[in-house]
Amino acid sequence: MKGDDLYKLRRSYADNPLNEADMAADPFTQFEHWFDHVLGIPDVIAEPNAMVLATADADGQPSARMVLLKGFDDRGFVLHTNYTSRKGQEAAANPKGSLVFPWNHIERQVVIVGSVEKVSDAESVEYFSARPRGSQIAALTSEQSQVITREGLERRWAELAEKYAGDPIPRPDFWGGLRVVPATVEFWQGRNNRLHDRLRYRRDASAWVLERLSP
Ligand SMILES: Cc1cc2nc3c(=O)[nH]c(=O)nc-3n(C[C@H](O)[C@H](O)[C@H](O)COP(=O)(O)O)c2cc1C
Repeated sequence: MKGDDLYKLRRSYADNPLNEADMAADPFTQFEHWFDHVLGIPDVIAEPNAMVLATADADGQPSARMVLLKGFDDRGFVLHTNYTSRKGQEAAANPKGSLVFPWNHIERQVVIVGSVEKVSDAESVEYFSARPRGSQIAALTSEQSQVITREGLERRWAELAEKYAGDPIPRPDFWGGLRVVPATVEFWQGRNNRLHDRLRYRRDASAWVLERLSP
């Protein structure tokens, strides 16, 4: 389809209401409800923990990329990555971030805005040791976000695979978890006539406040 015709791409949304009365008292419990739902429909949403992470550098230049959610609790939402990557460096210089869960196939999205912090070394080690060996070697191999050649990457992987043959792969210091600690969490549900439901939790001094936003 040519770009000129894109305006014809239009879809009506089923009218599933999202009501204040049905929402949990905190966004983590509400997220768990929606996450359980998408986990149960793998034919519709094949990778429910895929999310977009946006960071920005010290000049305010944003960048975004997909990552995988590897855990969440009432502290926040955790992903694992290379701390020297673009996102890692941006989060270190400007510890703010945003996550989007793009569950558009069921007319939903969750948008999180907040701060970004490193998880504890113990948490990073625990997750790293649970990864498949090939991925562990890849984490050690990859200077994520640097310019490379394919041959150089594969040679380095093979060298490290040989070096650690038969031994456990140590977690490198530069690889670990980042936690997005939410200030706001918005639950978006598509509705008829583009009158969508947007219910947003905002962290107040001691509690979560739920507010409806204009679509
Ligand atoms: C579905 C999907 C999941 C991904 N999950 C991760 C992840 O969990 N951690 C990660 O570092 N990169 C992940 N990536 C790769 C990132 O999108 C990105 O290419 C990489 O982290 C480098 O990003 P940066 O240069 O902006 O730091 C994933 C990509 C896709 C498409």
